[in-house]
Amino acid sequence: MSIELKSPREIQALRSAGKMAAETLMLVGQRLRAGMTTDEIDKLVHEDTVRRGARPAPLHYKGFPKSVCTSVNHVVCHGIPGSYALRDGDIVNVDVTTVAEGMHGDTSATFYVGSPSADAKRVTEAARRALEVGMSVVKDGARIGDIGAAIQEYIDGLGQGLGIVRDYCGHGTGRKFHEEPSVAHYRQGREEKNARIRMKAGMVFTVEPMINLGTHEVDVLADRWTVVTLDKKLSAQFEHTLLVTRTGYEILTMRDGVLRGSEGVPGVNA
Ligand code: MF3
Ligand code: CO
Ligand code: CO
Repeated sequence: MSIELKSPREIQALRSAGKMAAETLMLVGQRLRAGMTTDEIDKLVHEDTVRRGARPAPLHYKGFPKSVCTSVNHVVCHGIPGSYALRDGDIVNVDVTTVAEGMHGDTSATFYVGSPSADAKRVTEAARRALEVGMSVVKDGARIGDIGAAIQEYIDGLGQGLGIVRDYCGHGTGRKFHEEPSVAHYRQGREEKNARIRMKAGMVFTVEPMINLGTHEVDVLADRWTVVTLDKKLSAQFEHTLLVTRTGYEILTMRDGVLRGSEGVPGVNA
């Protein structure tokens, strides 16, 4: 097993890819509204990515048919854009991955369509905070397992019975979409070798906790992509791509503004 340390040149390319993904995600936030179909989000992401001279990583990745993942309400991740029209009260995670200069930038956010229910807000804000908590322990010398331990401590501490998805994890990224290491968002046992791996400056990986209102258990639909909660309760997720540094981390998918329709900023639909 080997986790690549990125060269300064590769890091520059990762910065451009990450910035593009972040900007495309912000554009989605500006355009999102009730009545919009998830296919329209796909078209927006595809066109914006291509306009930047980049490529949407999801398209044809292991047979995935679209350029972005759109995961509505009880869909945990890998939702396939289609004819579904977003409705007032829905939450939707939009997961953008851009390939630029041969490198990947992977980022997602959950948006509120119109006015969220109390449950929708609870699970979305917990997921937003879970990402921050997970990122906060990232630093040269820390262990990969520290991320999941911190997130689990936070989610359990809420005492709301929220579930942390275990079947899907964060991941290294670079020239390939998914590289080592695997980054679990829950506390792993001492025997988990992966959790004991030390972070090193120059590693690049994502943190992308999926938080469920109920059980952590999931199911995959017959389309072999769409991941749903087993109890059909809501799920939310936020994702950033991080570069480990000597003193902490750099968010390669940092936004230079707030997300409309999320982060407490009403969208045009709200
Ligand atoms: N962007 C997802 C992630 O965070 C992966 C999507 S794979 C796809 O890892 F094929 F569904 F696009
Ligand atoms: Co990812
Ligand atoms: Co992603």
